[in-house]
Amino acid sequence: MADRLNIHLYKLLSAFSMAMDYNRYGMMRHHQRVALLALYMAEELQLSAEEYLPLFCSAIIHDAGSSTFREKASLEYFEVNNPWKHCERGYKLLNSVRILKPLADIVRYHHDNWNGQNLSGLSGDSIPLASRIIYLTDRVDVLSQKPGNILDHRDEIVKKIQSKSGTMFDPGLVEAFSRIAQKECLWLDLTNQFIQSRLELKLGNCPVTVNQDEITGISLIFSQIIDGKSPFTFRHSRLVAEVAKLLAEKTGFDREQQNNMYVAGLLHDLGKLSIPDEILEKPGKLNSVEYNLIKQHTYITYQILSNIDCFEDINSWASYHHEKLDGTGYPFRLAGKDLPHGSRMMAVADIFSALVEDRPYRKGMSRNEIEKILTGQVKTQAIDGEIVDLLLNHYREAEDLKEITWGREET
Ligand SMILES: [Fe+2]
Ligand SMILES: [Fe+2]
Ligand SMILES: [Fe+2]
Repeated sequence: MADRLNIHLYKLLSAFSMAMDYNRYGMMRHHQRVALLALYMAEELQLSAEEYLPLFCSAIIHDAGSSTFREKASLEYFEVNNPWKHCERGYKLLNSVRILKPLADIVRYHHDNWNGQNLSGLSGDSIPLASRIIYLTDRVDVLSQKPGNILDHRDEIVKKIQSKSGTMFDPGLVEAFSRIAQKECLWLDLTNQFIQSRLELKLGNCPVTVNQDEITGISLIFSQIIDGKSPFTFRHSRLVAEVAKLLAEKTGFDREQQNNMYVAGLLHDLGKLSIPDEILEKPGKLNSVEYNLIKQHTYITYQILSNIDCFEDINSWASYHHEKLDGTGYPFRLAGKDLPHGSRMMAVADIFSALVEDRPYRKGMSRNEIEKILTGQVKTQAIDGEIVDLLLNHYREAEDLKEITWGREET
């Protein structure tokens, strides 16, 4: 078992959740607000310290099963028509990683109605308490997305929730919510730009840290959320991670650095969760307005990863993958001397993966075509020639990773 690192599980999930918080209106902090409301409920219900962390962690990633703006928009209605798809997808994702397994069921049932009529067949007390809390607080957040002062709307929101007591929601939880809803601070917290610090304050000292394997597992989940944004990027992040790790190994990085390259590869496009679906799904060339939006994705990856302690290398290797040696890349315009070796390898791994992958509108390219494009980019001083040579020297191994990655069933 790898050593535990000085990274707290809740901080890691909280940072990653920011990428999931993007919808067509920008970063809406939906997950953070639901997590904060859930903690208010936990205090009111006097839940034990052991119940706090799973409740918080599942609340902060409860919609992990929905990647597209389209699906997120469908969840903005108070009564969601067929919410089960994202619940099941979220369940499967979390169930695939040991440290998140205990959260899988909570996420699976987070739209279950108290009076039954759920896909799960569950009703009443048989629905996990944390799922019932998230369902109620999630719907409160949906109702509170109105212009104007939130305190002007609170009575109306509380009445709406009360009207669904015993049908959608657990009556005991509706009573608890009605009590805490009297606190102005709860509503003001929901409109607070500094919600992150409010969350940390409420969570107190939460000692659960993660190890290298767990970081990799959680990053694997997020790579699937990222790739779920578009059918064009099916397992792209996983392939980039595998190729980047191969290059790291061949270049002489030690085991820990190779692992960090793998994690950086999984997360390199994290910021794509902020890009409108139709741009990522556009088969043709992007116009300048669309391209300018695409350019924000590595900036967002950078901002989100900078919230995680000990992620300095991972962040620069992940976020600089569109920088170029001649300083004409984006978004930092870093030139060669400022581009770490890991970032240069990531750039090559990303281009190679994109070319070798099949896309709905074309097959993966041949070795000749890929070699031509890569060496052309070396000539224009976009990417590092030595790294391209390294890749070409191990071409078969790199190409085989496509079969392994694409053929592999999700675990
Ligand atoms: Fe949901
Ligand atoms: Fe939600
Ligand atoms: Fe990218």
